[in-house]
Amino acid sequence: MNFSSSDIKHLLSTSDPQAVDALMEEACRLRDEVYGRRVFMRGLIEVSSHCRNNCFYCGLRRDVQCRRYRLGKEQILDCCRIGHELGFRTFVLQGGEDAWFTDERVCDIVSTIRSMFPDCAVTLSLGERSRESYAALRAAGADRYLLRHETADAAHYARLHPSEMSFDNRMRCLQDLRQLGFQVGAGFMVGSPYQTLDTILEDLEFIDRFRPEMVGIGPFIPASGTPFENHPAGSVELTVRLLAIIRIIHPHVLLPATSALGTLHPQGRERAIAAGANVVMPNLSPQDTRALYSIYNNKLATGSEAAESAADIRARLKAIGMDVPTDRGDYR
Ligand code: 5AD
Ligand code: SF4
Repeated sequence: MNFSSSDIKHLLSTSDPQAVDALMEEACRLRDEVYGRRVFMRGLIEVSSHCRNNCFYCGLRRDVQCRRYRLGKEQILDCCRIGHELGFRTFVLQGGEDAWFTDERVCDIVSTIRSMFPDCAVTLSLGERSRESYAALRAAGADRYLLRHETADAAHYARLHPSEMSFDNRMRCLQDLRQLGFQVGAGFMVGSPYQTLDTILEDLEFIDRFRPEMVGIGPFIPASGTPFENHPAGSVELTVRLLAIIRIIHPHVLLPATSALGTLHPQGRERAIAAGANVVMPNLSPQDTRALYSIYNNKLATGSEAAESAADIRARLKAIGMDVPTDRGDYR
């Protein structure tokens, strides 16, 4: 790693504005060197709010009583049509671990999207599955898979999840995805309960070692009805500094400005871009299901987080000197 632990601890805690500015500048310089001054757009389609898991932090955990939905194939294809028209060339199908989304159904949806929109990439984010399942999804044409590691510290992982979930299985999934040729996304929440500076250092070491093609980080935001509903939200400032550090550790990474950051701070997305982020993922889900996909309280799905605002998002990114190409935006 190009930082020592004490460098990182200093960068995360300093109140010297010059040190922070230098960190942001270096992150942007590296991003621009690898990708140019470009931000890639992905259309996020939230395909199901059903989940068999009970992660302590998540508003969609199975024990939360709420209205649930899932999208069928035709509804998902409608989202893709609208998205393609708006200039999206990556569709991210994200959902809870919902048994309705069998390999057969997901493979059919993925291969249909790939044949209807041959210039588009399909990213899946459907949680932990078997190696055989991942292999089938890859063979059907899925290019990328997002599965946050959540924390690289096994003891911390056990405090965020019930005992039927395991850190080892999460790591197994990430290894399988990598070996099957997916571009893999990992990531974690900033300020999750029981997170410490040391667990964050482990996350950074994991990113340095595994070198995921994508890293999603955003602040923890409490979700009503969950065991962590009274825990404080994570810090926007710490999230932004971590984005910059991750860019410097791994200059090629595709790094989204997440909705969680946009939810906590009106300039969250711009601040993330100024820290070296280069991906935005506006919401392409049907309007009437957006409010139901409430992984945390007050999640934004309108304005700059909504795919219909693509033109506006482009204009706002242009205003801060960033180009928004209409292409798949693959890892390089
Ligand atoms: N606050 C912020 N992020 C959350 N996630 C789940 N619950 C929350 C929350 N309360 C993140 C997790 C998960 C991703 C889909 O959303 O990191 O992997
Ligand atoms: Fe399910 Fe994902 Fe929420 Fe965990 S974080 S409860 S796996 S939707």
